[in-house]
Amino acid sequence: MTITFFELLGSVIKREINFIAGHLNKSVDEIYELIVEEAERNQAEWYSNRVPSLNYHSPACRLAYLYIVAAANSSTFQHVLESNQDLYQYGLGIAKERHEIRICAFGAGPGTELLAMSKFFAQQNLGHSVSVDFQLLDRVEEWMSSWHGIRDQINDSFRNLYGPNRSEWPMIPSGNFLACDVTQLDRIPYLGNVWGQDIYVINFLLSEVFNDDPGLRAFLSKVAEFAPSGARFVFIERRGYMWQSRMANIAEESGLLLSAFTESQGRLEEDPLALGDVYDVLQGERKPRLNWNVVYSIGVKQ
Ligand SMILES: C[S@@+](CC[C@H](N)C(=O)[O-])C[C@H]1O[C@@H](n2cnc3c(N)ncnc32)[C@H](O)[C@@H]1O
Repeated sequence: MTITFFELLGSVIKREINFIAGHLNKSVDEIYELIVEEAERNQAEWYSNRVPSLNYHSPACRLAYLYIVAAANSSTFQHVLESNQDLYQYGLGIAKERHEIRICAFGAGPGTELLAMSKFFAQQNLGHSVSVDFQLLDRVEEWMSSWHGIRDQINDSFRNLYGPNRSEWPMIPSGNFLACDVTQLDRIPYLGNVWGQDIYVINFLLSEVFNDDPGLRAFLSKVAEFAPSGARFVFIERRGYMWQSRMANIAEESGLLLSAFTESQGRLEEDPLALGDVYDVLQGERKPRLNWNVVYSIGVKQ
């Protein structure tokens, strides 16, 4: 008994498409066309070799992200949680001892880290539920709709699989969305409790900030300064020396002890047919990403 990323995302995407079509007074087919356009634009911008200019404020652009990228990125994060022995033992140790874990994720508006945690705990069979509390920092507050949509869908799936009693679920998700540009140090005083977290995640954020931004380094240094000793900082990016050096510079300025860089290639073993309608309509034009090819490293607060 477990959940699948594609099944979960399919329900979220379907609901959003219907809502947006009604809201924008467009047909569902017109929304599908917009999703394909935005998916092509996203791809071109990510590989433009400059700061990407993305339309995340547009619902079709966010839907394109959920359709093309979200499952693969969730799978990557799940893989890192499971395969890095230090992170695995650390995360599981906290979950077993406290039955809760606190995560602060930067650039995590879409909800991929939340998806990854839900499948991770569903597969661990700990025999008790774990409350997973997210502090999310993303400069695009419109992502809130997908994050909450994913959270609600996870709740529905767990209710169907494990019954109405939440203490029988493998994980109970909660979250606090903070609209914040993480290159702006002056935003720090307005944030909630991002300080006392167990795990900090920087997952495919560096390539969107793109430059070796002193503002991002200053921001993360401040967060690291107040993080508890032993907190883990999980950096994941597409492969490349440039991204490794960004991670190294952040870690050095923040005083984090960075693990060796691990290059990882893999494939999400799920059937995209589970996405349902959106896949049936769009698969001829664009298919969701299944493979990943990343470099990651774990920083430890001393
Ligand atoms: C490629 S997506 C990664 C999302 C998610 N972490 C994942 O792996 O699927 C990058 C995210 O970072 C956010 N972002 C980009 N620049 C940012 C900034 N300066 N401050 C905060 N969020 C930012 C975007 O809105 C987007 O949600």
